[in-house]
Amino acid sequence: MLRVLGLTFLLLSGYVYAEPIADTHTEMSGCESCHMGGEPSADLAHENAACVDCHGFLKEFADETHIKHDDVLECSSCHLAHEEVSPSESCVNCH
Ligand code: HEC
Ligand code: HEC
Ligand code: HEC
Ligand code: HEC
Repeated sequence: MLRVLGLTFLLLSGYVYAEPIADTHTEMSGCESCHMGGEPSADLAHENAACVDCHGFLKEFADETHIKHDDVLECSSCHLAHEEVSPSESCVNCH
């Protein structure tokens, strides 16, 4: 019984993670939370600044992966906001 519950939990958390962050964030506070006027900018500077406004700079995260890319990458380098893909699949693109 416990194992069944554990498995259900894993499946559920996996499902939550696979949902694109644009969807989870739009539910919370709309397209405007990331896009000025709801429209994507050409260079994504506004979008990446919005991530930092709410979540903080890379160096302020607790884990190595975020800290190691401080001043090197933008959030959007690894987090594809509208796609059902985990940022952990991005590493092979560069390393
Ligand atoms: C969590 C922040 C976030 C939210 C909320 C969000 N977007 Fe985006 N959007 C992005 C980022 C970042 C990109 C750049 C491409 C990428 O990283 O997927 C993008 C790209 C786009 C693009 C360019 C085409 C594409 O898919 O790459 C359009 C159009 C767009 N968004 C529209 C919207 C609309 C409409 C909403 C609300 C329903 C929305 N976005 C909500 C962050 C967000
Ligand atoms: C308006 C504030 C706000 C903005 C802008 C924002 N976030 Fe979030 N984000 C939150 C909140 C609140 C949560 C849910 C609680 C938490 O996990 O911290 C969240 C959750 C997340 C999660 C966990 C998975 C999920 O979908 O819930 C990721 C990953 C994430 N944000 C990345 C980003 C990235 C990347 C950007 C910029 C493209 C961004 N966020 C922009 C407030 C924001
Ligand atoms: C080097 C790639 C990379 C960059 C750059 C990156 N992330 Fe992440 N992020 C990840 C990975 C990998 C995870 C863990 C995903 C998983 O567990 O599947 C994650 C998880 C998260 C989470 C949820 C877990 C947590 O630590 O709270 C948030 C929120 C988040 N990232 C926000 C951001 C924001 C905001 C930025 C930009 C300031 C950013 N990330 C830049 C790779 C990255
Ligand atoms: C868009 C390109 C890009 C992506 C995606 C990316 N990285 Fe990086 N990473 C870099 C660059 C550039 C550096 C800094 C130069 C260097 O040390 O290679 C770096 C540095 C690092 C370092 C520090 C290396 C050192 O010697 O201190 C680690 C660890 C690392 N990345 C792991 C990851 C992981 C894990 C992921 C996926 C979650 C990832 N990277 C995704 C480009 C990327």
